[in-house]
Amino acid sequence: MEFQIRESLESDSKAIRSVVLAAFGPEEGEEIADLVAELDLDPTAEPRLSLVATNEETIIGHILFTAVKIEADPNQTPCSILAPLAIHPEYQKQGVGGLLIHEGLKQLQESGVDLVFVLGHPSYYPKFGFTPSGYRGLDAPYPILPKNAEAWMVQELRPGILGSVRGTLICATALDDARYWVE
Ligand SMILES: CC(C)(COP(=O)(O)OP(=O)(O)OC[C@H]1O[C@@H](n2cnc3c(N)ncnc32)[C@H](O)[C@@H]1OP(=O)(O)O)[C@@H](O)C(=O)NCCC(=O)NCCS
Repeated sequence: MEFQIRESLESDSKAIRSVVLAAFGPEEGEEIADLVAELDLDPTAEPRLSLVATNEETIIGHILFTAVKIEADPNQTPCSILAPLAIHPEYQKQGVGGLLIHEGLKQLQESGVDLVFVLGHPSYYPKFGFTPSGYRGLDAPYPILPKNAEAWMVQELRPGILGSVRGTLICATALDDARYWVE
């Protein structure tokens, strides 16, 4: 199947909500769809990058990156976090998630972002260059349980930046809630 990736438009918000609900299911879906809507309106999430994957104009996947900062970082390293990523169940395991991640990372790199973080499946994101972050001295805004340490990951988009900066992250206001930091 041919999938296209493009930046999301304001008019896509309903279709994005449907994909998030379908991907995360009835229990988690509402909360995550609300989070996406809140991040869309949150000035502290800027700069944000919101991409959709389409199949014949229908939105079948969505990825969101929002700004994060490293506390007391004298260089104010430009950082972003991937959250959430959702692929409609009918289109999972066909590489759509990978396409969205690759395109997102490419665009972030072009716009000067140095580090990208994600809290997610430790068997999925390493395929796309992410490695555990806590060991590099870059901590999540809320403590991650040691048993989930591998789920808190980072990737450098500027070679050599990892290791040169340490600290705890400050995320957008909409994401700044302990319930989003449980893996
Ligand atoms: C996780 C998700 C984003 C992956 O997207 P996708 O388009 O299905 O994934 P891709 O086709 O790019 O990659 C498929 C690979 O990832 C693996 N994979 C898919 N879901 C996975 C999961 N939950 N955990 C670990 N690996 C997973 C597949 O086994 C496959 O591996 P392979 O390439 O070795 O065969 C998608 O399944 C989804 O939306 N799930 C529900 C919501 C969710 O969990 N979002 C992520 C929150 S961190």
